[in-house]
Amino acid sequence: VLKVHATAGSRAYDALIGRTCLPGLGTAVRRVAPGGQAVVCSDENVAPLYLEAATSSLAAAGFAVSWIVIPAGERQKSLARAEELYGVLYDRGVKRTDTVVALGGGVVGDLAGFVAATFQRGVRLIQVPTTLLAQVDASAGGKVAVDFRAGKNYVGTFYQPSLVFIDVATLETLPQRELKSGAAEVAKHALLAGGDLLAATERLSRAAAGSPQAAAVTQSLVAGNVWYKVSVVRADEREESGARAALNLGHTVAHAIEAATGFARYTHGAAVALGLRAALRLSERLCGLSPEEAARGVRLLDGLGLPARLTGVSAQDVSALIGRDKKAAEGGVGFVLLEALGRPITGAAVPGPLQEEVVQWLTRP
Ligand SMILES: NC(=O)c1ccc[n+]([C@@H]2O[C@H](COP(=O)([O-])OP(=O)(O)OC[C@H]3O[C@@H](n4cnc5c(N)ncnc54)[C@H](O)[C@@H]3O)[C@@H](O)[C@H]2O)c1
Ligand SMILES: [Zn+2]
Repeated sequence: VLKVHATAGSRAYDALIGRTCLPGLGTAVRRVAPGGQAVVCSDENVAPLYLEAATSSLAAAGFAVSWIVIPAGERQKSLARAEELYGVLYDRGVKRTDTVVALGGGVVGDLAGFVAATFQRGVRLIQVPTTLLAQVDASAGGKVAVDFRAGKNYVGTFYQPSLVFIDVATLETLPQRELKSGAAEVAKHALLAGGDLLAATERLSRAAAGSPQAAAVTQSLVAGNVWYKVSVVRADEREESGARAALNLGHTVAHAIEAATGFARYTHGAAVALGLRAALRLSERLCGLSPEEAARGVRLLDGLGLPARLTGVSAQDVSALIGRDKKAAEGGVGFVLLEALGRPITGAAVPGPLQEEVVQWLTRP
């Protein structure tokens, strides 16, 4: 089992990454929690696969275990569902010394995390992410939230977990579409970090040849991603200094694509992949990214089987939505671009016509 030590603000915690390590969950949680209750929150796809292993391991480690299983999907990230979870914790007499365990993808992690952060001003939170996206991105970094009206993640806070426990073997049951969605965030980290992480991701991409396999996602690759994410978060826990803004690479365009297509046509990762392609092209035009490195970035995305073309929506509709998400700074959209692979710049000004041109280019036949 690999260990990544994370510090953010006042909290320090470990991320443990192994393969088929889920039976060891209870022992690992026991090291950070004195005992008492453990309430596992999962969804109806994940629970049949992994709930039994998680709960029996927690029980064997001395916890009084119970669980809540919610339907799957983004719509569960609502205040209504959060209120229902508060009710369950209340009825079970959960105290601040007890533990909430989020077992699932980013939806379960964000929802259960938000509930753990706010119930009695904070009960202990353990993240057990089971999607690639949640393992490499959502579970570490401490952002927890629910959606509100049209606003994704509009109500939330920063709340660090006490432990992130990752079993990469859980990826083997993940649908290919979801695996690819996570692969886009892996590619994003690789382009931002360069160096060894880029090389390891290129190995995955070459081996995948358009169709990534869960078995090829190594513990060390996931650990490298967690390490990169927490090292950025350490420098900027609450998205204030700007260091964390680099993590938005590809996301300015991705958010516009998701909004223009009603969050249905593309997974988040697929939209991010298109955003990364736009960012590579803009970086070449505006920041001196060499054509060779830009092509290397494109090959990385191609090998991971990530979309190359934006379809089913007009370029105008997407362009009009760029910068409309809450992350857009006042007075223009600051893009994250790359001077070189591994060398991001934040707050780059991209003239409106060039934004439109690059989206148009994404829709080329
Ligand atoms: N907090 C953060 O920093 C952060 C970062 C990125 C994304 N997010 C959030 O994460 C969410 C997306 O997360 P996601 O992509 O994991 O989606 P998800 O949680 O909806 O999971 C995707 C699907 O896979 C299923 N699933 C999960 N694990 C499985 C497994 N091992 N085997 C089979 N099926 C499995 C789920 O039931 C679901 O149907 C979004 O709400 C997004 O806002 C948060
Ligand atoms: Zn993302």
